[in-house]
Amino acid sequence: MKAAFFALGLPALTLAFPGMMGIKSKQEGLQMLEKMKREADAELVERQSLSSILSTVVSDVKGLIGSVASSVEPDNYRPEPGYTFQAPGPNDSRGPCPGLNLLANYGYLPRNGYVNFGQVIDATSRGFNMGADLSGLLAVFAILTNGDIATESFYLGTGPGNVGGLNRHDTVEADISPNREDFYLGCGDNHHLSSRLFTQNVALAAASSSKQFDLTVMGNQYYANSKFSQKYNPYLYYFPFPSIVSIGAFVFYPNFFSNGTYGAGGVANYESISSIIGAQFNSKTGHFEYVPERWPAQGWYRRSTEYGAVDALTEALAYIYAKNPVGMPIAQLGTQNLNVNTILCDAVEGINSVTPLALAGQAEEVEAGIAWALGALGAVGLNNTVLGCPTSALSANYLYGNSTQKGGPLNPPPSVQANTGNDVFNKVYFTTAPTTPQCSHTASS
Ligand code: HEM
Repeated sequence: MKAAFFALGLPALTLAFPGMMGIKSKQEGLQMLEKMKREADAELVERQSLSSILSTVVSDVKGLIGSVASSVEPDNYRPEPGYTFQAPGPNDSRGPCPGLNLLANYGYLPRNGYVNFGQVIDATSRGFNMGADLSGLLAVFAILTNGDIATESFYLGTGPGNVGGLNRHDTVEADISPNREDFYLGCGDNHHLSSRLFTQNVALAAASSSKQFDLTVMGNQYYANSKFSQKYNPYLYYFPFPSIVSIGAFVFYPNFFSNGTYGAGGVANYESISSIIGAQFNSKTGHFEYVPERWPAQGWYRRSTEYGAVDALTEALAYIYAKNPVGMPIAQLGTQNLNVNTILCDAVEGINSVTPLALAGQAEEVEAGIAWALGALGAVGLNNTVLGCPTSALSANYLYGNSTQKGGPLNPPPSVQANTGNDVFNKVYFTTAPTTPQCSHTASS
C-alpha cells in the first residue's frame, strides 16, 4: 500500500502542502518522507523475498506429481469413489488436526466433526495408512481427556458450549506445534493455521537442498518454533503425552501428507502439503489464508505402507526433538533411558495423571475411565506387558512431576474463551509473530 502512495506522488504533495498532513516544518516533512520511504522499501523487500521464495518453491515442485504417479499403486489413490470434498459448514466442528479435518471434509469421518473411536481408526487407516497402534493411542487420549467415554467419541474442534474437543489445551493439543501458535500467545487460538508460521516453513523448505517439507526441514521448523516458545511463552509446559503428539505432528507432515510413500519415491512437495493443511497463498497480501483442508487437485496417493507408533516416535526423537530437547517432566529425560519404549510406557502409565483432569469426579468414574483406556490401548497392541513397562508406577495417585507448575495441567495459562471455538475458514490468522498474547489476530480474507 505504501509503495503505491509513492507511485501516486504523495511525497510531492507532502512537501508542497505540509500543513495538510499536520506537518509543522519542511524539516519535519523530510524526516517523515524518509521514514515512509524506509518503511516502503522494507515492505517491498519483504514482499519480493516472499514472492521469490514462493515462486521458487512452486516452480521446484511442479513436475514432481508426474514422477510420483509412475511409482504409485492405483489402489492408493485418494479420495476413493463415493468420497467427495465438501467444505465444512458453520455448525461442523473442526480444530487443530489437519488430518482429521480433511477426513471429515470428504466424509471418511462424519462431516459434523463429532467422531467415535472405531470411525477414527478406520478413517485414518483408509485415508492415510496410519497404523492402528498410533491412531489408537491418539484417539484414546482424545476421548479420555476431551470427549465422552460412554460413547467413545470426541469433537474435532470444540464441543457444545466450548467445552472439550481437540482444541482443549495441554491434554492432546500442545504448545510448539508445526503451524499453530501456542495457546497463551495465540490468546486461546491454538487451532487455526498461522500464516506467519507457514511462511517460515515455506522459507525453510525453499532454503533446503530437497526443496520439500522433509524430515530435516520439519526439524528446522521445530527448532525455530521451540526457541520462539522458550523465549516468549512464560506458560510453556511440555507435558509428556501432548508433547509427544506435538513432536509427532512434525514427522506426520512428510510421512502422511507426501504424494506417494515418503522414503519410497513419494514427495512432500508444496502442492501436496499446502493443500492438505489448507494454506492458500494470497499474492495480493503476501499472507496465507486458512481454507478447508483438501487433497491436491492434481491427484494424490496415500503412502502404501502403514506408519505406526514406533515409526513415529523413533523419527520424532531423532529428527525433531533432538534439535532442541525442551524439558519434559519425565524421569528419563537427559539419560540414555529416553527411548521409544520408555516414552510409550510413560504415555500408557501417564493415563492416571490425565484422567482426573477430565473426569474430576468420583473415584469409581476415574477408575472406570482408566480401565477403559488401558483396555482400548491393549486392543491396539499397546499394553504394559507387550511394552514391558514397569507396573509399579501404575497407581491411582500417580501424577507427573511439576503438574502444578505455571502452565501445567493443574495450573493452566489464562485463556480467552472467544478464541477457543471451532475453526473459521477463509481468513488469515497471525500475520506477525505473537511475542505477547495476540487477541486480535484475524485478518479478513
Ligand atoms: C488418530 C487420531 C488423531 C488425533 C486424536 C489427532 C489429534 C491432533 C491434535 C490434538 C493436534 C494438535 C497438536 C498440537 O498442538 O501440536 C494434531 C495436530 C496434527 N495432526 Fe492429528 N490427530 C489424529 C490423527 C492424525 C492423522 C491421521 C494425521 C495425518 C494424516 C494427523 C496429522 C496432524 C498434523 C500434521 C498436526 C500438526 C498441525 C500443525 O500444527 O501444523 N493427525 N492432531
